[in-house]
Amino acid sequence: MTQLRLSGLTKSFGGFQAIKGVDLGVEKGEFCALLGPSGCGKSTLLRLIAGLEDATAGRIEIAGRDVTQAEPSERQIAMVFQSYALYPHMTVAENIAFSLEAAGVAKAPRLEKAAEVAKLLHLDELLTRKPAALSGGQRQRVAIGRALVRDPAVFLFDEPLSNLDALLRVQMRIELSNLHREIGATMVYVTHDQVEAMTMADKIVVMSGGEVQQVGSPMELYENPANRFVAGFIGNPAMNFWREGDHEIGLRPEDLHLASEGLKGRIRLVERLGATTLLHVQTDKGLICVQAPGKAAATLGAEVAIAWDASRAYRFDTAGRRL
Ligand SMILES: Nc1ncnc2c1ncn2[C@@H]1O[C@H](COP(=O)(O)OP(=O)(O)O)[C@@H](O)[C@H]1O
Ligand SMILES: [Mg+2]
Repeated sequence: MTQLRLSGLTKSFGGFQAIKGVDLGVEKGEFCALLGPSGCGKSTLLRLIAGLEDATAGRIEIAGRDVTQAEPSERQIAMVFQSYALYPHMTVAENIAFSLEAAGVAKAPRLEKAAEVAKLLHLDELLTRKPAALSGGQRQRVAIGRALVRDPAVFLFDEPLSNLDALLRVQMRIELSNLHREIGATMVYVTHDQVEAMTMADKIVVMSGGEVQQVGSPMELYENPANRFVAGFIGNPAMNFWREGDHEIGLRPEDLHLASEGLKGRIRLVERLGATTLLHVQTDKGLICVQAPGKAAATLGAEVAIAWDASRAYRFDTAGRRL
């Protein structure tokens, strides 16, 4: 069942069109990532779904109901922001139960529901603590708990992990994925970080300039990008591109290797990452990144040749369309 459907959704700020006719369906229980560079319209799209912005044109349906004109509180959505301001004077239990209090639920069932949600989020030992006595990850979980307690039809997340340090981000990625599986929630998750999108999402929506570039599973986008933009955005280190006659070639660093014959060049930079080593080779096609094994011998300035399996090459026209 489709839990969220956007049809021809458009948003203009004055004369500037931030969202240009987006069509999208998100199935019940799906984890859908909106992925794209800063300024591409991810937050605006999420705010349109939440009802925090009015659509200029188009239609939004949530759980089969047209909510295009509905108030945010009538949309059955819960939003978790990047800055998850908790109430500092309230305990974890009170913070989680707060939206139920605002909705007029009595105290006993309210705290019972908060305790149930806290258990799911492994916060049950911390119910009486105040936010100041929590770690960043625990605070994040309380913020999610506040959303969870309302049983929304769709969860909306706007870069919820970007304030966390690298280690905590990895932990929260795992926790969010587990949580998604455990509760079977429908989630729309905004991020500019392709690793977050690749690791957590069932479905990724790649956006650029207010438009959807491609929708697919992480591996579909990686293996079969529709255009040069998606090819360059998905995958790390990024795909190499160069002009060849009247079109462009795209090759991923992991599909290149050094050989005795091939595209000649000189090693300009060696990045040792441990498990892999990235060799940046200056060629007459430009600077090409080759992903070599971690212990690969590599001398700065050495002349090398780059080879690849022809079946791994992607082709694009000069407008960036896949050939
Ligand atoms: N309230 C607003 N008024 C005018 N322009 C806005 C407003 N909100 C967003 N924009 C513009 O819309 C574009 C998309 O912004 P946003 O959705 O925040 O991008 P993202 O979340 O992908 O970084 C940007 O060019 C931004 O400047
Ligand atoms: Mg944003």
